[in-house]
Amino acid sequence: MKSLIGVLKDIISQAVSASIPISEPAVVTSAAAKFNMDFVSPIALTIFNKQKSSGCFGIKNAKDLATLIHSNIQSNPIVNQVEIATNGFLNIYINHEFIAGQITDLARGNFTLDIGLVKSKILVDFSSPNIAKEMHVGHLRSTIIGDAICRCLEFLGHDVARVNHLGDWGTQFGMLLCYLADKYPNWETSAPDISNLEEFYKAAKKEFDVNPEFKERARLRVVDLQSGEESAMKAWRYIFKVSREYLQIVYDRLDIKIEDFGESFYNPMLKGIRDELVERGFAVESEGALIFNVEGHSTPLMVQKTDGGYGYDSTDLAAVKHRLVTLGMQRAIYVTDSGQSTHFYALFDAAKTVGWHNPPSTRLDHAGFGVVLGPDGKKFKTREGGTVKLINLLNEAHDRAKAQLEKREQDPSIGNRTHLTPQDFEIAAEVLGMAAIKYFDLKQNRISTYAFSFDKMLDPKGNTAVYLIYAYARICSILEKLGEEVISESLSSTCILADKTEKNLALCICRLPDVLETVVDELALNKLCDLLYEISTKFSEFYTKCRVIGSAEQSSRIQLCIATKIVMKKIFNLLGIEPIEKI
Ligand code: ARG
Repeated sequence: MKSLIGVLKDIISQAVSASIPISEPAVVTSAAAKFNMDFVSPIALTIFNKQKSSGCFGIKNAKDLATLIHSNIQSNPIVNQVEIATNGFLNIYINHEFIAGQITDLARGNFTLDIGLVKSKILVDFSSPNIAKEMHVGHLRSTIIGDAICRCLEFLGHDVARVNHLGDWGTQFGMLLCYLADKYPNWETSAPDISNLEEFYKAAKKEFDVNPEFKERARLRVVDLQSGEESAMKAWRYIFKVSREYLQIVYDRLDIKIEDFGESFYNPMLKGIRDELVERGFAVESEGALIFNVEGHSTPLMVQKTDGGYGYDSTDLAAVKHRLVTLGMQRAIYVTDSGQSTHFYALFDAAKTVGWHNPPSTRLDHAGFGVVLGPDGKKFKTREGGTVKLINLLNEAHDRAKAQLEKREQDPSIGNRTHLTPQDFEIAAEVLGMAAIKYFDLKQNRISTYAFSFDKMLDPKGNTAVYLIYAYARICSILEKLGEEVISESLSSTCILADKTEKNLALCICRLPDVLETVVDELALNKLCDLLYEISTKFSEFYTKCRVIGSAEQSSRIQLCIATKIVMKKIFNLLGIEPIEKI
């Protein structure tokens, strides 16, 4: 598949260079659905406005410039026609045969991207919950968004490192280690049940707050841990293991692959970073601490605390250097709530000041996101006011999806449907439940806050994963009815897009490469969700209007159905969803 916008930009840019003695990168966008043309370019207008004060090479107005550019457009297989609008816009019509050829390619199974992309090394820092604390809905968002970003980058052919920057180090471990030793002196021989680490953490914190003797011991234990003292490390590994096992359950349910490079990984590098920053004059003393005043940022980064310890900022300084300099990453994307943007912007500018980060050869992004609220629009809490356990949330999604499937099973208006075995039923409930949570999150504008609502995310009629999976299963069943033989016969013929609904659907499918490029540039997964939804509505319009089975156009239409199925499945996968074919 080619990037249509990419190809059109090249064609227009060449025509510009052939028309006037300057080069200007062409802007081409998809036309709004209410218009007839497929793409538009405001290039003549842009150039004319820029050059008007210096006479614009003797050209009188934008329309004349558009006419000149138009006359220099080389004939090519993609563009059918370009017209000049009165305002100087170029209206572009795509060649139906070209689009139809792409559909045939897809239907025949040639699903490759031909978009001339340079492969880069990209690191995505996502999920990153804190050990011994409950993973909260914010971490769920980071997990879902981060995983989808990785999937898109991987599909585009980049070399992606999926990194879990776990909060597995720091002063809180002093109190956790002391509490473990006090409460379960035999923890090494008989493993205590501390699987509810949230409780364990709270109890340790309580002791820390009320007992000065405990507090002092906890402080000393941190020193042990930082110096790598064996018994402290052993206890730390134990708490890490219990906590990590719980996280894995959540990751498995959500089908998340991620590699741990938690804060502890950077611990051995912290002193070196501190020394480097002091030596080079970036870290300065302030009230007993060492801080990095980053130009343009009111809050400095804390390089070393007054008590000599290192914190979140120090670790991130070490991590950013490790990523860009040691690992040679060309781009690093940090997925956390927007509340941390001040920290990341200061960090990125600090990395630039020091010389680790050299844009445009390196790129750092903070993919910040809005808060997830409860269904009532207030802070997301359990009825008792506690943190919502993620595992309970996933279980509830599963149960509610199952109840919905049962309702559907009994719905007489849905005729001719496959009845699922109890085992398939469970699988379908899990797929729908997890997909509902993921899609509801990903379709939001990343930075907006949203209210978590099972009712909304499981609505079979809205823009939800449930609706889309049903639509996908319907296409699968159409193809199944046709049978292998008819399908393979249809693949040998040329695809002709005669009806407007066919062409609209085909063009929508062909937008995938362009949308993907925008998605990974802007880290806006909602645009991929929008495309999926649009493909599915365009398919309905096509299927309502055009008969497939037994029509004269059967072969072309079968190809269109297969291409829709393949592209929808691909987008589901990029969003972290494995759709089911029979439901
Ligand atoms: N553990 C942090 C939190 O829970 C997120 C870490 C994000 N990554 C980073 N490199 N700082 O908020």
